[in-house]
Amino acid sequence: MIKKGIILAGGYGTRLSPLTKCVNKQLLPIHDKPMIFYPLSVLMLANIKNILMIVNPGQIENFRNLLGNGSRYGIKIKYKTQNKPRGLPDAFNLGRSFIKNENVALILGDNFFYGQSLTQKLESSSQHKIGATIFLKEVNKPENYGVAKIQKNKIKNIVEKPKKFVSNNAVTGLYFFDKNVCKYTKKLKPSKRGELEITDLINEYKKKGNLKFEQIGRGAIWSDAGKIEDLINVSNYVRSVEKVQGIKIACLEEIALLKKWISKDTIRKNIKFYGNCEYSKYLKDL
Ligand code: DAU
Repeated sequence: MIKKGIILAGGYGTRLSPLTKCVNKQLLPIHDKPMIFYPLSVLMLANIKNILMIVNPGQIENFRNLLGNGSRYGIKIKYKTQNKPRGLPDAFNLGRSFIKNENVALILGDNFFYGQSLTQKLESSSQHKIGATIFLKEVNKPENYGVAKIQKNKIKNIVEKPKKFVSNNAVTGLYFFDKNVCKYTKKLKPSKRGELEITDLINEYKKKGNLKFEQIGRGAIWSDAGKIEDLINVSNYVRSVEKVQGIKIACLEEIALLKKWISKDTIRKNIKFYGNCEYSKYLKDL
């Protein structure tokens, strides 16, 4: 059972410069909300209420102005700074005192997930007590991601950004780990590019025969928003879905209300906090 989650929202955001010169990438807009709402909504959908947000130096105040301590959404948010990008598993070094020997989820702050049966997959995977679970999605350009080769319904191997074709199954930026994660992270050595690699960590679980996977099917979409092109594409996607269907993707209050984590009164307060905007109008209709 996973009750804790880390959102890794640091990094230089170089590919989005100059947008990222004075603001964390994860605070940039995806259509009508800051990017960080989307990964946060994924953790909330997985029933994770205890969250550690890892951000760049000097950015905690910005995140806190937006999300506070999480009480607006019926959750708990703590913040920590990563002074330089040392690789994704660094989240477990920085988060050791937060994790306290419990299972934990990690999601990258620039990852976007939406679609059919996703919530069900999140809920069922978060019940696993032992091992790690990764979420795979077929992509066009696997060389840009960590990829997993599947054979006989098992993961055969995982490779980070393979130069030669290995598989179309990208490892998305959402990972569920059991309480061994800090112990395994300690064993990792930086790769040639000088960072701890998430694929090495996942391979530790594989070696122990404790690696599961979920495939994100055709009815759902996944993208990271690390490049201008992706940022615009994901924004356009959210805009179309919201316009045609009259619903909002990643409305944190809607998820929290559905789960009975907040009252209508909290929503009224949140409307005052956001002010007169489209998002508030949607909250009024809830
Ligand atoms: O998006 C999924 C991919 O994410 C996976 O398929 C890859 O296996 C995984 O390595 C990662 O690849 P990226 O090339 O996207 O990693 P990047 O270094 O760009 O980091 C991803 C996000 O995490 C980015 O938004 C910045 C943040 N980050 C990254 C590092 C290395 C941090 O906050 N701290 C870090 O130390």
